Amino acid sequence: MREQLEQIKAKAMQALQEAKESSELEALRVSLLGKKGELTGVLKMMGKLSAEERPVMGQLANNVRAAIEARLEQRKAELAAAALEAKLKAEALDVTVPGEAPALGHKHPMYIALDEVKEIAIGMGFQILEGPEVELADYNFTKLNTEEGHPARDWSDTFYIKEDSSVLLRTQTSPMQIRAMEAIGHPPIRILAPGRVYRKDEVDATHSPMFHQIEGLVIDKGITMADLKGTLETFVKGLYGEDSVVRFRPHHFPFTEPSCELDVQCFKCKGAGCPTCKGEGWIELLGAGMVHPKVLEGCGIDPNVYSGFAFGIGLERMAMRRFQISDLRLIFENDVRFLRQF
Ligand code: DAH
Repeated sequence: MREQLEQIKAKAMQALQEAKESSELEALRVSLLGKKGELTGVLKMMGKLSAEERPVMGQLANNVRAAIEARLEQRKAELAAAALEAKLKAEALDVTVPGEAPALGHKHPMYIALDEVKEIAIGMGFQILEGPEVELADYNFTKLNTEEGHPARDWSDTFYIKEDSSVLLRTQTSPMQIRAMEAIGHPPIRILAPGRVYRKDEVDATHSPMFHQIEGLVIDKGITMADLKGTLETFVKGLYGEDSVVRFRPHHFPFTEPSCELDVQCFKCKGAGCPTCKGEGWIELLGAGMVHPKVLEGCGIDPNVYSGFAFGIGLERMAMRRFQISDLRLIFENDVRFLRQF
């Protein structure tokens, strides 16, 4: 029996040593120490031993059992530690592996141009405003001295939202002049309002049914055409360089009096005439004028006390000149091969 016990112990130690998983250990515990286990089997035969042998063998059997139990616990701990180690290794983060550079986008050329205009405006104390693209005809036309029946209000040019022509997609950012006067209430007012505008135009190299304008409005005591000229010249020089040359041409807009357009001398040919300026030597940049007294009055501002000027810049046109882009459609198609160049 002594040999049997020694054998069980030796076999058990070997098996425990070889076990690779905690589930194997559990199976071993059952087969070695369980009710139907080998050790229990041997103990059951104790009854056949003599009275002298029994306590000796009992002692020995207990020692074997204790040794197996101790080793079992030890192996459990070892396997758990090994499993933890393996897990940590598998999940380890190797900080020396070179990173994958995230693909960063960048500003659209039109927004590069817009941000330049904004920067110059903010430097001159302008406040940036945004307003609705779905606009009341009242704001888009009537309050801008463009009465019903005016050709600009024609259904063939404007996307109307309501059958009765009272709501539309704004055709210009000029309604922001009215909104600014109503919101701010009293001069001084110095705002810049960029945004989308819509007109029923077919798409071609210079037209799109949706485009962007930047509206400017300045109202205070004693504002004159000289302020308009000085401010717009500052804009142009900031955008196109200190040596740019501008000219003002008389024009007509319903909501300004007098009205003008501003041209900048072609930066390519310096006025001689070339394909960029279509042989004219000058490039049209914006419309402007002194705010019509009727418009001021309609917004509750006394034209005898206050005066002001306004201007409207076509943003795409400006960006196209700034970056020498020849086709308006490129700005909206968003082909990354095109956009990556800026
Ligand atoms: N809203 C005009 C247009 O779309 C541009 C314009 C002209 C805006 C004169 C102005 C202005 O503020 O004073 O053609």
